[in-house]
Amino acid sequence: MTQSPRHFVDLWKLEAADLRAILDDARARKAARDGWPMGRPDADKPAEHRTLAMIFEKHSTRTRFSFDAAMRQLGGSVIISNASDMQLGRGEPIEDTARVLSRMVDAIMVRANIHEDLERLAMNAAVPVINGLSDKGHPCQLMADLLTIEEHCGPVAGKTLAWVGDGNNMCASFIHAAPKLGYRLNIASPAVYHPDLVDLARAAEQQGMVATTHDPREAVAGAHAVITDTWVSMGDTDHDERLEALEPYQVDEELMELADPRAIFLHCLPAHRGEEVTDEVIDGPQSVVWDEAENRIHAQKSILAWCFGIDLTHPPVGREI
Ligand code: CP
Ligand code: NVA
Repeated sequence: MTQSPRHFVDLWKLEAADLRAILDDARARKAARDGWPMGRPDADKPAEHRTLAMIFEKHSTRTRFSFDAAMRQLGGSVIISNASDMQLGRGEPIEDTARVLSRMVDAIMVRANIHEDLERLAMNAAVPVINGLSDKGHPCQLMADLLTIEEHCGPVAGKTLAWVGDGNNMCASFIHAAPKLGYRLNIASPAVYHPDLVDLARAAEQQGMVATTHDPREAVAGAHAVITDTWVSMGDTDHDERLEALEPYQVDEELMELADPRAIFLHCLPAHRGEEVTDEVIDGPQSVVWDEAENRIHAQKSILAWCFGIDLTHPPVGREI
C-alpha cells in the first residue's frame, strides 16, 4: 500500500513531535552551515534530485525567495508560477492540476486565496502539499517565528507570547500550534476582528493555553514576545474600517514597556510603519524581524525535509547535515 503524502497544510492536524523535530532540525541545520555562502548546499542534500513546484495566487517576497533558496540549500530545484499564468487561472479544476503536477514534481507549495482550495489540492495530490499562506493560516511563517523565539528566549514551552491586532491568518497559526508546543498565547484584538472561534474552540479542546482580550496592555503584560501583523491582509477589502478599529492596537514603545524587560518583537512582514507598529519598535533593539525573515529559509528546509520523509527525530546524531 502506498503511504499518503506528508502534507504541511494545517498545523492543528500535525503531531506535536513532528513540529518539535522540525524546529530542532532547523536549528541544527542552520548552525551547521554558519558562515557558508547562501547557495552552497547542505552536506546531506536531502532534496537532491527533487523538485518543488510553487504556485502563487497572491503576492510574495519572503515566501517566494526563501523556498527557492531553501530548495537550493537542500540540493533540489524549483519551478515557480503565478496561478494566473497557469490553466488553473482559466478554470482548470484544482483536482486535475493536483494530479498532473504529482506526475512532474516531488512536492507542491501553494499560496492560496481560499484555504479550501489548498485542501482540495492536497486531497488529490500524490506528493506533499505545503501551505505557503492562505486566508486560514501561515504555518511556514509560524515555524520560522518559533525558531526565532527559541533562538532569542530559549524553549518556547512555558513562554508567554502576546498577539496584538488583527485576529488574522497569522494569529490563527499561533493558535493552531499553541497546544502542540506548550506556549501561552494572549491575543488582544477588537471584537470585530477577533480570532476564528473554531480555532479557539479546537485549541481549548487540545488543552492549549490561549486567552483573548480586547485590551492590548493586558495581553502584553509580562510577555516574552510581542507579535503583530498588518491590519489589512491580502484580500481584505474593508481598509478604512480596519485602520479605525485597529488603531488602539498599535505596538509602540509604551506597550513594549509592559512586556518582560527582555521581550522581543516579531512581525512576519511586510510591515506598515505607523500603523500596526511604530518605527521605534520595529527598528529598535527589541525587534528581531530580520532574524525572523532569514529563518523562513531554515524552518522551511526542515519542513521540506519532513515532507520528503527524512527522519528528523535525532537531527545531528549519526548523520552530517
Ligand atoms: N511573511 C511573508 O509571508 O512574506 P511574503 O508575503 O513576502 O511572502
Ligand atoms: N496576514 C498577512 C500576512 C502576509 C505575509 C496577509 O495575509 O496578507
